[in-house]
Amino acid sequence: MTKKILILPGDGIGQEIVAEAVKILNALKANHGLDVELIDGLVGGAAYDETGSPLPEETLAKARECDAVLLGAVGGYKWESLDISVRPEKGLLGLRKELGLFANLRPAILYPQLADASTLKPEIVSGLDLMIVRELTGGIYFGQPRGVRTLDSGERQGYNTLVYSESEVDRIVRVAMDIAMKRGKRVCSVDKANVLECTEMWREVATKVGADYPEVALSHMYVDNAAMQLVRAPKQFDVMVTTNMFGDILSDCAAMLTGSIGMLPSASLDENGKGMYEPIHGSAPDIAGQNVANPLATILSVAMMLRYSLDEPAMAERIEAAVNQVLDDGLRTADIHSDGMTKVGTAEMGDAVTAAL
Ligand code: IPM
Ligand code: MG
Repeated sequence: MTKKILILPGDGIGQEIVAEAVKILNALKANHGLDVELIDGLVGGAAYDETGSPLPEETLAKARECDAVLLGAVGGYKWESLDISVRPEKGLLGLRKELGLFANLRPAILYPQLADASTLKPEIVSGLDLMIVRELTGGIYFGQPRGVRTLDSGERQGYNTLVYSESEVDRIVRVAMDIAMKRGKRVCSVDKANVLECTEMWREVATKVGADYPEVALSHMYVDNAAMQLVRAPKQFDVMVTTNMFGDILSDCAAMLTGSIGMLPSASLDENGKGMYEPIHGSAPDIAGQNVANPLATILSVAMMLRYSLDEPAMAERIEAAVNQVLDDGLRTADIHSDGMTKVGTAEMGDAVTAAL
């Protein structure tokens, strides 16, 4: 049966990088028998400009009926002064929440060809293969109450709430454990249990879940130490599982270990494996429209989509092999360029991967 994929380029470089990922999907369709229908939609600032909402009802309805969603990026200077309730980011957060995409998988893999592109010494990062499992629909991102209130004194006070229920912790830790079972069988749960009651409970629940997985070595780490360990000795980690906000921060940190945030894909999954796929980087308005952005994170997100939502692991491997091929051939976008390599633009990189398929 034909699977439906909703294509949401969003804002900034989202437009350019998603165009390259669509080339890949179309090539797989034309030459390798991938049976998919691509459906266009609006999200983020682009949707706000057209409809007054960063997540129009129509987009949400399409997302619900599709088998998977491919998203570029949202946000930009143009919309920064809008009320927070209609900012482009709300479109992305709304999709995650409405679709129940609680499990965010952010792999950080160092391609050997890019060992020089990392700001860390090659021996620290070579062979790095880490999976960050970020809780995506709870925590301080969504906790109530939230807002800015005016105190009796006339001073304003901003507040947000970090909240997790046991079931939310239980299900995300289980996702991490299941992934670890297929990898190195080690999970590090990251919290701030020494200060925040909410994450003290997180640790208790994680420990309880861990007992159901006797083969997995479960450890716990405070988030400040985890940030330090990620740059000190990142290869000690196999799978990390953590809260929404800690995962947001640590995954950017992990991205730089691999040379460029422009290389890292992500999958956001619901209870049934339906998912939204996006690069972990943002809309980079400073370089948008210049054909310099790296499309590989988005192209690799398509590979994750084929693997996790469309049950086409061989096609996922085909994409990953093609990316390896173009890196072997010395093609580099500006973010991963180094001496002796061939600098290419966004579209040339997409064309090269398409050709290598
Ligand atoms: C990410 C991004 C988003 C987040 C923003 C754009 C809302 O930083 O996906 O990591 O904070 O989750
Ligand atoms: Mg982020």
